[in-house]
Amino acid sequence: MPNGRWSPDLITGNARIDAEHRELFAMAASMVADPKRSDTLKVGLAMLEYFESHAAEHFLAEEEQMSCCGYPGLLEHRAEHGRLVEYVANMRREVSSGGTDAEVLAIANRLLCNWLVRHMTTHDQSLASYLRDHPHPPAPAEPPRLDARPLR
Ligand SMILES: [Fe+2]
Ligand SMILES: [Fe+2]
Repeated sequence: MPNGRWSPDLITGNARIDAEHRELFAMAASMVADPKRSDTLKVGLAMLEYFESHAAEHFLAEEEQMSCCGYPGLLEHRAEHGRLVEYVANMRREVSSGGTDAEVLAIANRLLCNWLVRHMTTHDQSLASYLRDHPHPPAPAEPPRLDARPLR
């Protein structure tokens, strides 16, 4: 399993999900540029806010897909999204209140990236596989055969 970074092992095969995952990793990677820079926390906060809104959009899109196709793991997957959203919101609150420093932000960021990797290689891989096997909308049923006899 990749160590907290995006890698080809994370590809789910679902083009939309994969594109959004790459974006999330790019955002997470730029959250902590250089802990020694004086504006690290300011940059980190801006990237956290950006990440937070993109992650929320991405999670909602996945949850809509789960709902549409009757995915059996919806509740568990949605709960995991909720925990991730809460973790990021806590990070953002800590940074914006000045209650943390760049090194703590870097550690929190590594945990976030590891969490993303774990989520994508388990929950999201399962979802993508289910979506492949259960395309939505389902193929239309055969139309009823009309009786060839003329109407009277
Ligand atoms: Fe997910
Ligand atoms: Fe995802």
